[in-house]
Amino acid sequence: MTDDSFAGDSDGAESPHGTEETRDVATDGGATGADSVALDPWGSSTVSDYRKLFDQFGIETFDEVLGEVPAPHYLMRRGVIFGHRDYRAVARAMREDDPFAVLSGFMPTGDPHIGHKLVFDEIIWHQQQGGDAYGLIADLEAHSARGLSWDEIDEHAHNYILSLLALGFDPEEGTLYRQSTNREVQDLAFELGIEANFSELGAIYDFDGETDVSHMQSVITQMADILYPQLDDPKPTVIPVGPDQDPHVRLARDLAARVQYFGVTEAYASFETDPEERAVIADAHETLTDRHPDETIRCVDAANYLEGKREEGATDETATTLDSTITMLREAGKEPLRPRVRVVDRNATEDAFEALIEAIDGEKRVYDEHIDTFELSREEAEDLAREVALDHGGYGFRAPSSIYHRFMTGLTGGKMSSSVPASHISLLDDPEAGYDKVKSATTGGRETAEKQRELGGEADECPVYELYAYLLADDDDEFATEVYEECVGGERLCGGCKEQAAELMEEFLEDHQEKRAEWEEKLDNLDIEFDSPRA
Ligand code: TRP
Ligand code: SF4
Repeated sequence: MTDDSFAGDSDGAESPHGTEETRDVATDGGATGADSVALDPWGSSTVSDYRKLFDQFGIETFDEVLGEVPAPHYLMRRGVIFGHRDYRAVARAMREDDPFAVLSGFMPTGDPHIGHKLVFDEIIWHQQQGGDAYGLIADLEAHSARGLSWDEIDEHAHNYILSLLALGFDPEEGTLYRQSTNREVQDLAFELGIEANFSELGAIYDFDGETDVSHMQSVITQMADILYPQLDDPKPTVIPVGPDQDPHVRLARDLAARVQYFGVTEAYASFETDPEERAVIADAHETLTDRHPDETIRCVDAANYLEGKREEGATDETATTLDSTITMLREAGKEPLRPRVRVVDRNATEDAFEALIEAIDGEKRVYDEHIDTFELSREEAEDLAREVALDHGGYGFRAPSSIYHRFMTGLTGGKMSSSVPASHISLLDDPEAGYDKVKSATTGGRETAEKQRELGGEADECPVYELYAYLLADDDDEFATEVYEECVGGERLCGGCKEQAAELMEEFLEDHQEKRAEWEEKLDNLDIEFDSPRA
């Protein structure tokens, strides 16, 4: 991946800024500090180089799926949502009108601010696209990892929920809950905890002997949050979060597989391989089938073929992979090499295993711990295994998907932080205070008006431009583009630009707070409990 190829929206459809690579709408989220990326959910969550998230952590660029999303949200179109894991499954469900879900959680450590609005909007948009929507208050995490009192938590929780509702969350259709009072989540957490041990959490989160047990419990609770939408009815589920939460997403994806009754893999013979070995065998199988279309290809044939390739030095695989593959193929000898879909027994009960054998149509071969099927596609096998598991009291989780948004730059430059009031705009700020904060924000402007006219402003480095792109321009791409073009073209000067942004912010806050007040009235009729029984 080249430097330029990470332009978030650079070659996506309908970029609001044309197709020039440098015209990247989003900025680097306070690109100060060290340039190594640490994804730490309780750390300072600045990311100085989003590209590393792709290279080091295997997050995929959102650009790649953008075209598969029907009527994408502006945060997607503008590259604010820059990355994902497995979002294809969700996009497909949306296109095909299949069930899907969205869930995110909020640690109630302070007032909700315009950074949280991104996530609120993401949840709400997915709900409007037909998803089952969940918003949760991570009160256990706030209490254990951040030391907030239950009273503080209750107050903040109330404010988060009101803003989520005011922005358009439909509580009749969706679900709002607190971690601590959701019994099903707690029970699921307990079950998931059986599959995760201390060393693993230590490795992922840098926990050590001093880490308190409740903090660990809040992690396993988050795993349960993430899988909760699928408890009764497995479906693609997207978790919109900042990239600091990616370690949680990865662990949840792992646990989703580990607690299953069955796992589904592909294989060519009775023995088990790892993915690299499987790739080597797949390649041998393909070549040999091409060469001898009418003959049965046996394991020993593939071993011979691979030996030959090795002697010619014509292999890319590592020596160990090749060695182990050849050894296994030799041991299997005359066994025919045939592609098959394998269902592996992970945690299934005997009844469930028997039921699955019954349920598989067509040719199959049953072993102690797995069943090989020859007429099912991988997907069919997965669906069947899931169905049988659910019928027999097991879980049927699909690996949860995620989308990642950029962190907003603080208004004072640097990182937007809840603990620095001038750096962010709280959704509870007085509209005039919001106006003032925008007026005093740092810009990407030049030292003098002349220079600005000559060189243009640096919209890509400008927190005020970010406000337009992330929030103020709302769905209006033309307006966002206009601000950008005028800025970099030198037609727009910062004074006027900030005045316009400040007015829009003031209007937004007025409107938002009116809606909050309306919801406040209706809250009693809704079945949402804010007050912790512990406070
Ligand atoms: N850990 C998240 C945070 O720090 C909050 C959270 C709890 C969460 N459970 C979740 C986020 C489930 C997404 C999904 O903000
Ligand atoms: Fe930022 Fe506006 Fe100034 Fe451009 S003109 S640098 S967008 S404040």
